[in-house]
Amino acid sequence: MTQHRSFPPFPFTHRLGLALPIFQGPMTGADTPALAAAVSSAGGLGQLGCGMRSPAAMREAAAEVRRLTDQPFGMNLFVLETPRPDDATLRAALERLAPLYAEYGLEPAVPAQWCEDFAAQFEALVEARPAVASFTFGILDAAQVERLHAAGCVVVGTATTVAEARAWAAVGADAVCASGVEAGGHRGTFLQVGRAGSAAPGGPSLADFAASQVGTLALVPQCVDAVRIPVIAAGGIMNGRGIAAALALGAQGVQMGTAFLVCPESGIGSAYRAALARAGDTDTRLTRVFSGRPARGIVNATMDRLAACEASVPAYPVQNALMGPLRRAAAAQGRADGVALWAGQGVAAARPLPAAELVGLLAQEWAQAVAPPAH
Ligand SMILES: Cc1cc2nc3c(=O)[nH]c(=O)nc-3n(C[C@H](O)[C@H](O)[C@H](O)COP(=O)(O)O)c2cc1C
Repeated sequence: MTQHRSFPPFPFTHRLGLALPIFQGPMTGADTPALAAAVSSAGGLGQLGCGMRSPAAMREAAAEVRRLTDQPFGMNLFVLETPRPDDATLRAALERLAPLYAEYGLEPAVPAQWCEDFAAQFEALVEARPAVASFTFGILDAAQVERLHAAGCVVVGTATTVAEARAWAAVGADAVCASGVEAGGHRGTFLQVGRAGSAAPGGPSLADFAASQVGTLALVPQCVDAVRIPVIAAGGIMNGRGIAAALALGAQGVQMGTAFLVCPESGIGSAYRAALARAGDTDTRLTRVFSGRPARGIVNATMDRLAACEASVPAYPVQNALMGPLRRAAAAQGRADGVALWAGQGVAAARPLPAAELVGLLAQEWAQAVAPPAH
């Protein structure tokens, strides 16, 4: 592991045995064992986004990270219930997508499964015993957190509001990842606004998602003041200055997604990579057309074409599964206009360096950012 001796350990990252308070954000569909292992070997925490990995794929990915590094790493799940959409909802959703299916020469069809079975994924997670078990889209109960503790995992929950941070602290999580609206990928929002405690039936409404679009600079210090557990800042952190800023707000670590998405070790295709390289500060939007849950990505033709039915597409994971064949066909044809180009608002500042090099550079920049000015 790379040594970064100049930094005092932060209690939380010290507990994890990390040299640096830098977490590579889990990125479902984009991260790889090679990316996670490179970040962990360089002194940060690599993570595997397992939201769409089957239990067998989770086992395989964890084994591969362990083959590549002996350093701690994390695994992340979507907390989800398997939905049972009614026929009318499905018919309307498929009708809406019929022109797109036709364009790719595909027949609209109901998929074999809407999502992975969360209970089975949870068992695979307990069995894999990663150093960090992190979650988004929902919340665990105290007994589930306890099972992970017994397996030796540190539990991290994603929060997009102060109430969600408090809810994670209440079920016994060890830390909370405060995810500002700048962040790439899906919003982790799981509470209805104004309702403390556990997730309400039906989940957040579109109005709740809109109200929960708190920026990183506002969200992180409010979470730090509200809970006694450590806060990891996520959203828009791209370089050492961003790390210094997040830590000055009281965070004990940073989670960076978009910055690592452009590393050669990530699993994205060349059309996605090229779109990331071209994107500027005004090129991303939150959209629910790809998956049914608001997520930030670079605007493309599919986002624009489906914008009119933004509010009416079925909730995650139904829309996500119905769009799956279209995204796969677009990716196979190298068409950036048909894939979900998840990226954060800081995308233009991303540097396509090998992950270990990027972690080293971030550490160097962070040291410069906090050094007293030279006279
Ligand atoms: C392509 C992509 C996929 C993501 N998938 C997940 C995921 O599966 N689970 C999760 O908790 N966060 C996910 N995220 C969020 C990141 O882990 C991270 O918190 C976020 O990217 C931080 O904001 P930034 O992109 O501005 O750095 C994803 C982000 C991206 C860009």
